[in-house]
Amino acid sequence: MAAVIVTVYGGTANADEAQLQTPKYQLNKETIVRGGIFFAQNCLSCHGAKYIRYNRLATDLGLDEAFIKSNFMTPAGAKYLRGMTTTMPPKLAVNWLGATPPDLNLIARYRGVDWVYTFLRSFYLDPSQASGWNNHIFPTVAMPNVLFAYSGTVDETGQVLKKASFSPGEYDQVTADLTAWLQYTSDPSIIIRRQIAPYVIGFLLLFTLLAYLLKRVYWRDVH
Ligand code: HEC
Repeated sequence: MAAVIVTVYGGTANADEAQLQTPKYQLNKETIVRGGIFFAQNCLSCHGAKYIRYNRLATDLGLDEAFIKSNFMTPAGAKYLRGMTTTMPPKLAVNWLGATPPDLNLIARYRGVDWVYTFLRSFYLDPSQASGWNNHIFPTVAMPNVLFAYSGTVDETGQVLKKASFSPGEYDQVTADLTAWLQYTSDPSIIIRRQIAPYVIGFLLLFTLLAYLLKRVYWRDVH
């Protein structure tokens, strides 16, 4: 319940709800793994997901240690039994970027899934900013658009400055995968919970039936 309130509140706290886009993805292991690998290669240099120990990816997502080591453990000195922390020193980050990149472990809870997805898709060029980038739903953001090579870039007149290396469909997918990954890091038991939910409901229904039949037997002689 608290999570629902936080998610709903977080989603509306910083942006007009109408602006937000909802990602279309199935929250399954494949999506999360794709997003996680992309995160490790493109975001972990600045942002951590500190409560996710690398070894829990084995239990949650069914990956083996060698796969995790070669695809997820990108920061120098990353340890299998430790959390996914970034090696970016916070002080240097402030010097370079003007702000410390926050840990993103709980960001999907705090901001909401739609906000995260929309944020990743709302960068635009802005020469008045130190990084050259700004964001429609996070004005004066200190983060550069690290995805620009994939999305391509057009200037104000619509002229293509950088050709996209991804098709629009692939770009939708990569931003959705990243969002799915961040939804998972915010709530790592979500997959297993959803898997067992039908059995729990089934058990409760069966139990209700049994309790009802038992009640009929007990009260048979009274009525
Ligand atoms: C070069 C470093 C850098 C990289 C790489 C980077 N970011 Fe960021 N990011 C930042 C900084 C700095 C901020 C804080 C912006 C601010 O406070 O103005 C930020 C903020 C964010 C936020 C908003 C956090 C909030 O406070 O709500 C999200 C979400 C985010 N980044 C996601 C990502 C994702 C996903 C990737 C990988 C695709 C990524 N970032 C890669 C530097 C980076």
